[in-house]
Amino acid sequence: MLRVEHLTKDFGPLRAVNDLSFELQRGRICGFVGPNGAGKTTTMRMIATLEEPTAGTISVNGMSLFDDPYRVRRSIGFMPDHYGVYPALTCEDYLEFYARAYEVPRGLRESRIRNIMEFTGLERIAAKPVESLSKGMKQRLNLGRALINDPMLLIMDEPAAGLDPRARVELRFLVKSLAERGKTIFISSHILTELAEICDHMLIIDHGRSVAFGRFEDIQKNLQEGTEITLRLLHADQVPRLELQLSERPHVQNIRVDPNGLLTFNFRDELARFPDLLRELLNAGFSIVECRHGALSMEDVFLKITEGSLT
Ligand SMILES: Nc1ncnc2c1ncn2[C@@H]1O[C@H](COP(=O)(O)OP(=O)(O)O)[C@@H](O)[C@H]1O
Ligand SMILES: [Mg+2]
Repeated sequence: MLRVEHLTKDFGPLRAVNDLSFELQRGRICGFVGPNGAGKTTTMRMIATLEEPTAGTISVNGMSLFDDPYRVRRSIGFMPDHYGVYPALTCEDYLEFYARAYEVPRGLRESRIRNIMEFTGLERIAAKPVESLSKGMKQRLNLGRALINDPMLLIMDEPAAGLDPRARVELRFLVKSLAERGKTIFISSHILTELAEICDHMLIIDHGRSVAFGRFEDIQKNLQEGTEITLRLLHADQVPRLELQLSERPHVQNIRVDPNGLLTFNFRDELARFPDLLRELLNAGFSIVECRHGALSMEDVFLKITEGSLT
């Protein structure tokens, strides 16, 4: 349904999206996760034909976005993170306006709008002006607008941001039922846990680059192959030397040092082999006074795959 190849976007000297490639099948819900500034909005805007890539290609349902942007646009629904409303319009008029803008045939328009209002639960407030709506209701309207052309691919940019917990649950339900109806959904968030339970796939990016793509369980499993080990040294001045020694070990990966001098790394070998390594380090004179290991929690996974650049 969606194929992205080597997608790149520069803003002057800044490479906001860097050689991104992935593919989504029909009916998938793919979470698009990365810290603020990772390049999610830029990527989504390029897929939605609102931003021109510096390099790379995008195709939707086999149609190239560059050969036929107008046709592609008709099969995409885009729910931006910020959008202007016409505050004085009622919900119904608002959807009507967009239905006309998208040239939904006259004979279809009324039933399309009715179905969308029913689906998003906007019926009760059809006659209310847009400006009077709560954030949750505005998001429903934003979703309704994105559905007005009955798109095959729905792109949602941080739709849960700013919603209260109840509205989030409702949004999740709407997203799931759209996928059940065969829509392909690409949905972003800077909070991994927000998407983990509804998405069958995840694309994780950081600094414009893909860090992981696939089923979330697989991503998690890949990261968990191995154990996370944390060491504390009595003499903090030994930390750089320890870091150097560890970095030369084949089974030690992703070493990081926190400001308190704790050194953490992933040990990608059987845990039973770890005592040997520890013994060697002690024999080499490192003043290790604490050593612990643990599995990776979901937030940890996120921090790891984005190299801790969650800001
Ligand atoms: N129009 C623009 N001009 C210049 N820089 C931009 C523009 N849009 C986004 N950026 C920069 O590109 C990077 C990625 O931004 P964005 O795609 O909005 O990230 P995200 O949605 O993941 O938070 C950021 O460093 C941002 O400042
Ligand atoms: Mg964004």
